[in-house]
Amino acid sequence: MSYHKPTIGILTGGGDCPGLNAVIRAATKTAERLGYGCIGFLRGYEGLVDPVSYMPLDSRVTADILLKGGTILGSSNQGRFTALVGEGKRVQIDPVLLARAATTLRRLGVLGLICVGGDGSLAIAQQLHEHGIPVVGVPKTIDNDLGATAFTFGFDSAVATATDALDRLHTTAASHERVMVLEVMGRHAGWIALHAGIAGGGDVILLPEIPWTFENVCRKILERDAQGKRFTLVVAAEGAKLPGGGTVHGDGTPGTQRQVRLGGIGEIVAGEVSARLGRDVRTVVLGHLQRGGTPTAFDRMLATEFGAHAVRLVHEGRFGETVCYRPPGITSAPIAEAIRNLSTVDPRGSAVQAARALGIGFGDDGDGGQPFAAGEPPRSGHADGGIA
Ligand code: F6P
Repeated sequence: MSYHKPTIGILTGGGDCPGLNAVIRAATKTAERLGYGCIGFLRGYEGLVDPVSYMPLDSRVTADILLKGGTILGSSNQGRFTALVGEGKRVQIDPVLLARAATTLRRLGVLGLICVGGDGSLAIAQQLHEHGIPVVGVPKTIDNDLGATAFTFGFDSAVATATDALDRLHTTAASHERVMVLEVMGRHAGWIALHAGIAGGGDVILLPEIPWTFENVCRKILERDAQGKRFTLVVAAEGAKLPGGGTVHGDGTPGTQRQVRLGGIGEIVAGEVSARLGRDVRTVVLGHLQRGGTPTAFDRMLATEFGAHAVRLVHEGRFGETVCYRPPGITSAPIAEAIRNLSTVDPRGSAVQAARALGIGFGDDGDGGQPFAAGEPPRSGHADGGIA
């Protein structure tokens, strides 16, 4: 028996991103206006059990967090709650742990738990749901790789940071007639590289979704030289596969697993281009700068709508669903569906077509062709689980 006021719980799981605090604020304010209490569990799912750790949330606590990066609740992408490993392989969470989490929520009078997370954290939420725990999901990730939603918040801020980096690299690359390689995050989806590459005037964009070769990258650089543009900006997604196959791990070795730490492709591209062309090539790895800092206005807006809508789902008892953005509005979908369909860049999508039309290279044989040569009508751009 609970002696608490009906309460909504919220937690932030997985890697952080700009906009998490905007969700917490929106959910808290909405819950308060509906007459619910609100608490935030600390360090992601870890705060649910041994030791149970949480903080009360109200509109005074969340008063100044809209524009703050990170999450006031803390987060964890390691620990006892793991539901995905390797290539999206499901791992069963210990039922004892799930039962303890259920007990915690019952004791605190939590009638619904809002889980904010990417595919890994939403996969945990799904297992909580299957265990009978009342959860709703809110999708976040800078990678923008969840098929159920046209955009996740955090993505736009990451793209803005990467675009700003390209703007800065542009002037120094031009001054020194250098090839500059910018490595960006995104895991196994090339969304950040594609959007920042286009917005920041990149010349070559290397994506996980488009096989590429060093020959084609070098050809593009020489083509630009011949046009009198003796500098080139290459944007490499951390998950872009090497021409020989395999992604590059954080320690520089090729790998094939999904939850591994990616990183190092930029140095490899720079080294190879430098060796082949005898040119000065420099690399910048943007890393976690893409995850920190203030959310853009778009991300604050999206996160705010997500937070308010998540409380609505709890209020209406629609558990096992996640909020999502399907333009023009916010709606919801089963969490199970959201984690099943990951979204990657469609190589024939409209953004790639537009980039090619401008002469941006992707390091493949499609470089250098006539704009829209294949006569393909523009497509939404999502390869998997795309938004109609
Ligand atoms: O999923 C978000 C993300 O930033 C990826 O783009 C990146 O590969 C990964 O997380 C990095 O994770 P960590 O912070 O654990 O190194």
